[in-house]
Amino acid sequence: MHEADFDVAGKTAIVTGASQGIGESIAKTLAAGGADVAICSRSMDRVGPVAEEINDSEADGEALAVECNVREREQVQNLVDETVAEFGDVDILINNAGGEFVAPFEDISANGWETIVDLNLNSTVHCTQLAGEVMREGDGGVIINMSSVNGQHAAPGESHYGASKAAIIRLTETLAVEWAEYGIRVNCIAPGLIQTPGVAETLGIDSEDMPPREETDRRIGYGEDIADVAQFLASPAAAFMNGETVTVKGVPRAGNSMSQDLGLED
Ligand SMILES: NC(=O)c1ccc[n+]([C@@H]2O[C@H](COP(=O)([O-])OP(=O)(O)OC[C@H]3O[C@@H](n4cnc5c(N)ncnc54)[C@H](OP(=O)(O)O)[C@@H]3O)[C@@H](O)[C@H]2O)c1
Repeated sequence: MHEADFDVAGKTAIVTGASQGIGESIAKTLAAGGADVAICSRSMDRVGPVAEEINDSEADGEALAVECNVREREQVQNLVDETVAEFGDVDILINNAGGEFVAPFEDISANGWETIVDLNLNSTVHCTQLAGEVMREGDGGVIINMSSVNGQHAAPGESHYGASKAAIIRLTETLAVEWAEYGIRVNCIAPGLIQTPGVAETLGIDSEDMPPREETDRRIGYGEDIADVAQFLASPAAAFMNGETVTVKGVPRAGNSMSQDLGLED
């Protein structure tokens, strides 16, 4: 009988943007699955406690917190170096750090455009090239990029974000072909609306006002919904998946605004 293998135990993962939200969920899930995780954000005060929580938990994997702004290539190099020094390798890279602000295209300044493209796309390039070097020189690995349904379909007010997230999908497809010879699989997740502090901030609401999981009717998701898919893609069970974008969006939104999905308006 064939048994599916979702095991990540003994692997080393880098998860960017793991001080909260989806990245925090992915880091905790992989650690619970036995992977060691190097987690980063721009602030040790914010990412340090997540690592402490993992290390104080029953999780088999260990956590290392590294302060790293993924927009700064030298800091990303330091993240990779610290990961290898602590855990000896990089097997899994989760390019999760990202963000946005909502504005009509004509109101986005050159600086605003560059900031969003730099944060979402260029940071993914830095992390992938630098962690990828370790994978290419070693036994290969798995790279998982965070796109968005807004990188697959138009969303008003998100031209900069959508363009950067669409580019991540094509980068994923290209690298899956280019790096197959090194034993590196590259896949992408396109989340729908996920309840995170970042979404609450974008909507200008208090995270406390967002509905609990059991009341969402699967129209919004939770970090764990993305973390489960990330673990699958990182595991041997996904060995035949390469260059794919997995959409994870629950019940499709049928013209609802995000606020309607969140139950904040009729
Ligand atoms: N939530 C959704 O509905 C949704 C939907 C589709 C796609 N996504 C994507 O999923 C990813 C995570 O989203 P989220 O909602 O969990 O975001 P979030 O709540 O805003 O959290 C973002 C994380 O990224 C970190 N971060 C931001 N800028 C960084 C930088 N320059 N260097 C290092 N870390 C940085 C933040 O930490 P610090 O502030 O401590 O630096 C934080 O840990 C993003 O790529 C986002 O575009 C989210």
